[in-house]
Amino acid sequence: LHTDVAIIGAGPAGLLLSHLLAAQGVESVVVENRSREYVGARIRAGILEQSSVDLLTDVGLGERLAREGDQHRGIHLQFPQERHHLDFVDLIGRSVWVYGQTEVTADLVAARDADEQRFFYSISDTRLHDIDSDHPSVTFTDADGSPYRLTADAIAGCDGSFGPSRSAIPGGATWEKTYPYAWFGILADVAPSTDELIYAWHPNGFALHSMRSDTVSRLYLQVEPGTDPASWSDDRIWDELATRLGHGQDGWELTAGPITDKSVLPMRSYVHAPMQRGRLFLAGDAAHIVPPTGAKGLNLAIADVALLAPALGDLVRKNDARLADAYSETALRRVWRCTHFSWWMTTMLHRSGDPFEEQLQLSQLRWVTSSEAGATGLAENYAGLPFEV
Ligand code: FAD
Ligand code: DHB
Repeated sequence: LHTDVAIIGAGPAGLLLSHLLAAQGVESVVVENRSREYVGARIRAGILEQSSVDLLTDVGLGERLAREGDQHRGIHLQFPQERHHLDFVDLIGRSVWVYGQTEVTADLVAARDADEQRFFYSISDTRLHDIDSDHPSVTFTDADGSPYRLTADAIAGCDGSFGPSRSAIPGGATWEKTYPYAWFGILADVAPSTDELIYAWHPNGFALHSMRSDTVSRLYLQVEPGTDPASWSDDRIWDELATRLGHGQDGWELTAGPITDKSVLPMRSYVHAPMQRGRLFLAGDAAHIVPPTGAKGLNLAIADVALLAPALGDLVRKNDARLADAYSETALRRVWRCTHFSWWMTTMLHRSGDPFEEQLQLSQLRWVTSSEAGATGLAENYAGLPFEV
């Protein structure tokens, strides 16, 4: 089996890459070790930057997003007794959108199906070969147990943080930081108790009130890593969210409702460089992980692919490697900016137990919410810089 670009992973990075390549007349095959249903149901990110929305809209994926997505002017930043609204539109003229990763994925899968994209789901034993040659290949076993060799002009490693692509680039540099916190996330069938997201610093730990729609809320609590979601009753979750989010302050109330999903996610930062070797190119979580505070993970995956698609188009169609050769360095500049921002938001908002750090956090929060310069810096990073294309 031969194609122009072999794409490993049908997450947002792999799916969007296949879509952007097709728009340039470049053929691809997407291989994924999970089932189509599993990938479609995975609950993950919920916030799209302005640049992500602009790109999805430009490539014909914006119709349902415009109808069902919810544009937010900014966020609320809270610390005890104080809640401040940061208005990104006033500050920098850019905004963010609430539109779940599950919805982005569903729109992409629908578009790729309509375009007769070739997929292999539920594969096993994915292996990469000959990436330093101009005829690399991917071997795997399909859902029925038949072995395949997919040869291509290039391979895109979009296989997330546990996929095989990253380790196919030996001798690269990696930077890693594990945070001593985790997020307990819930999804609940209840109207959000807030118009825009609330990021809350609290002596008990960080809390975040997010949402997916007018009828579905998404909330997070800082917990100890390794916490078993089953060890928290629904009442305990809602009580702790109410405490940390300031139920009762200035008449604000948190409305509880039926919880439909509970999960605990670890928090780490990770960067692998370079993001390319020979004919293998990494994009999204395959190359970098950010902690969720600041909602950068999905947006970074989209930004990588926005750079990678034209680079692969030139490489495959015109045998012009200039953009491909520049890909890693260009992408890593944005990766490090987002890595810093996610680290900064994380360290500003999570309880570390160190009283000195606590005073620094509160001082930083007062500055960000009272200085236009401070607020503008946060807004610029949160709403995202325009893509370099
Ligand atoms: P992924 O979405 O991980 O896609 C990679 C794909 O590759 C997967 O479908 C995987 O099954 C497939 N794959 C793996 N190994 C193989 C193999 N051997 N062969 C074939 N295919 C393979 N970001 C936020 O901004 N906010 C959040 O709230 C948030 N919550 C998250 C919660 C969780 C539990 C996780 C894991 C991530 C979360 N993220 C969040 C990050 C965000 O979801 C990711 O940054 C985003 O999914 C990256 O997209 P991707 O396509 O690069 O990787
Ligand atoms: C969501 C996740 C985030 O990491 C974040 O910073 C904001 C919102 C969410 O899942 O809705």
